[in-house]
Amino acid sequence: MASEKEEKIMQAAGLSPTDPCSYSRPDECIVTKIDLDLDIDFDNTSLRGEVHLSLQKKRQGIDHVVLDTREVTIKKVTDQANGQELTFTLGEHDPNFGSKLDIRLPNGGGSSCVVSVVYETSPQCSALQWLRKEQTAGKRQPYLFSQCQAIHCRSMIPCQDTPAVKCAYSANITARREVTVLMSALRLGSEPHPTDSSKLIHKFEQTVPIASYLIAIVSGDIESRDIGPRSKVWSEAEMVDKAAYEFDETEHMLQTAEALMGPYVWGQYDLLVLPPSFPYGGMENPCLTFVTPTLLAGDRSLANVVAHEIAHSWTGNLVTNSNFEHFWLNEGHTVFVERKIAGRLHGGEAMRHFTGIGGWKSLQYGVVEVLKNGPYTKLIPDLCGVDPDDAFSVVPYEKGFALLFYLETLVGGPDVFEPFLRAYIERFQGDSIVTEQWKEFLFSYFRDKVDAGVFDEVEWDKWFFGQGMPPVKPKYDDSVAVPCADLCQRWVKAAEEDFSTFKAEDLEALSTVQRREFLSLLLLEEPFSPKKIQAMEGMYNLNSVKNSEIRFSWLRMCIRAQCEDCIPRALDFVNEQGRMKFVRPIYRDLYNWEKSRQLAINNLQANRDQMHNTTAKLVATKDLHLPN
Ligand code: BES
Ligand code: ZN
Repeated sequence: MASEKEEKIMQAAGLSPTDPCSYSRPDECIVTKIDLDLDIDFDNTSLRGEVHLSLQKKRQGIDHVVLDTREVTIKKVTDQANGQELTFTLGEHDPNFGSKLDIRLPNGGGSSCVVSVVYETSPQCSALQWLRKEQTAGKRQPYLFSQCQAIHCRSMIPCQDTPAVKCAYSANITARREVTVLMSALRLGSEPHPTDSSKLIHKFEQTVPIASYLIAIVSGDIESRDIGPRSKVWSEAEMVDKAAYEFDETEHMLQTAEALMGPYVWGQYDLLVLPPSFPYGGMENPCLTFVTPTLLAGDRSLANVVAHEIAHSWTGNLVTNSNFEHFWLNEGHTVFVERKIAGRLHGGEAMRHFTGIGGWKSLQYGVVEVLKNGPYTKLIPDLCGVDPDDAFSVVPYEKGFALLFYLETLVGGPDVFEPFLRAYIERFQGDSIVTEQWKEFLFSYFRDKVDAGVFDEVEWDKWFFGQGMPPVKPKYDDSVAVPCADLCQRWVKAAEEDFSTFKAEDLEALSTVQRREFLSLLLLEEPFSPKKIQAMEGMYNLNSVKNSEIRFSWLRMCIRAQCEDCIPRALDFVNEQGRMKFVRPIYRDLYNWEKSRQLAINNLQANRDQMHNTTAKLVATKDLHLPN
């Protein structure tokens, strides 16, 4: 939370006292329902129409509402009750937070009203990516998808773009007949457009109140396959069968999550496989998780991302961080549950501990090598003046997981901790909370243990606000990890001249997840010589592996070893897909090597128009250090 002094600074800058990344003032007035009427205009790459915002004033005398916007054109604002125009001012554009839309509310009236905003999005809208049909797999229709987390919803809809506020939403979306439209909501069907026979109107309803960052839309030439009693997988026809195979465990994962956290309240749980430029592994849009096509490994080995997004249906979508400084409440809990689900489905506790060890290693790498023990290594960072995209890292995920795993051990193990998790959901579902509320609940739930001094050893301040690695490392069962570490160390110690003790079977003996871990471990070591890389390639054929995680780590090994022949393969990889987890480290590695630096810059410039806005911006400014 911001200090008193920071709060004054934020308010002077017109930012919300409860969310450093939003102009909205939920202390004055909250949006209780969003109703959308929008047209998808592929020719002009714009969403155009109207949003109706139901407002509830928090006290008497409130005569305005402040909304977040970013690069939208506001055409008209009216009082829905009588159609009368309302005056508004649109503030200056801030590169991180967009502009404040201040609307004067109708005089008199009660404590509630409905404001209608006629607007259109700009082609630069940061939430939306528009693909020409040539850019899709099928090349038949154009494609549109959104990514609102963390603070991009404001570029798509004028709204209170803070997770402190939750509301239900409905939508009527008009689009040309040839495309399907889906949203993070239940589908109510579609009807012909009354005046334009080339169009359909698609209707949606999300009845569970959600934060703005969970509003999502997609439109394109997509189809579906049933993968469970409440689940379909959607994608372009080219990969829908492959996707149905890959995500076949979905219902099993849902049931496991329900056993841990209580009933799934959202009705449908569908998956959407996006085009390769989708910037994340997965996004927990309610009723319709978005995933990257890089999960399609052919052997279900990357389906943990689906377990993760399923877990968000409770941790994140029901119990929500109140602002993105407390993002670890969303992601730390979700990783924790993801690993519980994975353990119960495959490999039990030993496998859960194995993923915990991997998480700790990637935390070490992120904290030390990427973030240099800096301010974003705090579990609760300070986001005053910061775009959450710029602060995004492994820290909320893995420091958050480590804290929960450590606490679980401290209180007596899974049998004691899992009921707490369920009670936490029960207590806070529907709410947006900060870390202090989580901790208070932890203490009240484990009152006896607090009294018995069980938590005395926990250095809370260091966990929450300390930079660098956590104050303690939890104890993990390393039985599954040891073979990965052993093989890694054999390679590290191998003499440059003699690789005769290595065989192809070294790697074949490991499972896919262990192979992935083996490669991640190699990356934490000093760079290999090109000769050692060649020997490894000769033995294991890693250049031809299709699994995106293994391919990623191997390419990084090769770049860091300064193997020149890997540069074109690395450029192919970042051009073929746009998942930031893969693209950004590869660009950083290429930047750090004299030989490839200019090639990387040229490659970005040549491909920028094809890329997702967010990815292009972050790669350019943060990884290649180009002026924006
Ligand atoms: N909610 C996140 C994705 C996200 C975070 C988008 C912040 C925008 C801003 C999603 O649930 C996530 O964490 N995805 C991970 C999955 C992984 C941890 C299993 C990813 O994309 O890699
Ligand atoms: Zn997540």
